[in-house]
Amino acid sequence: FKASPPLLLATLVLISGCRGPQSTFADAGLEASSVAALFWWMLGGAVLIWFFVIGLSVYATKAHPGAHSDKTGLRLIIWGGCVFPTVVLTILLVFGLQMMPDFRAPANGPRIAISGERFWWRVFYDSPAEPGVARSLPHEGIESANEIWLPVGRRTELLLGSPDVIHSFWVPAIAGKTDTIPGRINRLVVEPTREGLYNGVCAEFCGTAHAQMAFRVRVVSQEDYETYVAAQGQPAAVLDHPGLDAFLANGCGACHTVRGTEADGRVGPDLTHVASRETIGAGILAMNEANLARFISSTEHVKPGVQMPSFGVLPDEEIAAIAAWLGSLQ
Ligand code: CUA
Repeated sequence: FKASPPLLLATLVLISGCRGPQSTFADAGLEASSVAALFWWMLGGAVLIWFFVIGLSVYATKAHPGAHSDKTGLRLIIWGGCVFPTVVLTILLVFGLQMMPDFRAPANGPRIAISGERFWWRVFYDSPAEPGVARSLPHEGIESANEIWLPVGRRTELLLGSPDVIHSFWVPAIAGKTDTIPGRINRLVVEPTREGLYNGVCAEFCGTAHAQMAFRVRVVSQEDYETYVAAQGQPAAVLDHPGLDAFLANGCGACHTVRGTEADGRVGPDLTHVASRETIGAGILAMNEANLARFISSTEHVKPGVQMPSFGVLPDEEIAAIAAWLGSLQ
């Protein structure tokens, strides 16, 4: 084969994606490691079968008519067509099945409820065992959004639900994907094995902004996890700011909650500690004051399909004040 530059480039791009914070091969979770191992075994099995079948085809087409007796042909069919694939597929099946008990091991870490919503993620720490029955939705605990902290080396139980359409919760470096389905709660137990920052995505097409429904996962020590959750449980840190007045005056509190203020809306993300997150708008922009102002003033341009309307009609000073206040909510 002659390697063409575009093909080479495409291959390089593909390979370069194999170790990033959003890769199944990043090996940062027990479940992801099993998925990666299974992938390599299946790839090995597939390559073996491919060479065997191609070899047989070449052999069959190159052979002169009458070169084989009927007996040889029958033998080829039995061994090559039945026995060989059965053996390879059985090995792969047994290998896959013996991984199952690992996935079912009980949780010994915290319980976090996560709700996939158009087009972001609602997160509750210290969630009770039986989530809200009324809406079949996880909706109790310390609320946050679009960023999930997990303690390293603990089996953490994730309760996954949705109030609108089917989404799919996927952090490739940590575990396989699990759908969030309206009307039911799916359980996923994950065991992160390496501290670090990883990317998660929505893996089920759910509408216009599906591709912009990302989130961050931060794996930390048990101690840091507890400190973080305790901090998230506190009310907002800055309650005397012109930005808060503008926030309330323009009705932002109808959709967003900021604990410690009058804002108690349940439609959009909880903003009590919004500045403690890495990103704005579910993984769209880096968290800083300029981007907060940009998101507020031209929401629909930054994230087409988003449920929040643009507030570009507000005076620049008000947008700047709101951005400055939100940017201080660590
Ligand atoms: Cu939510 Cu795709």
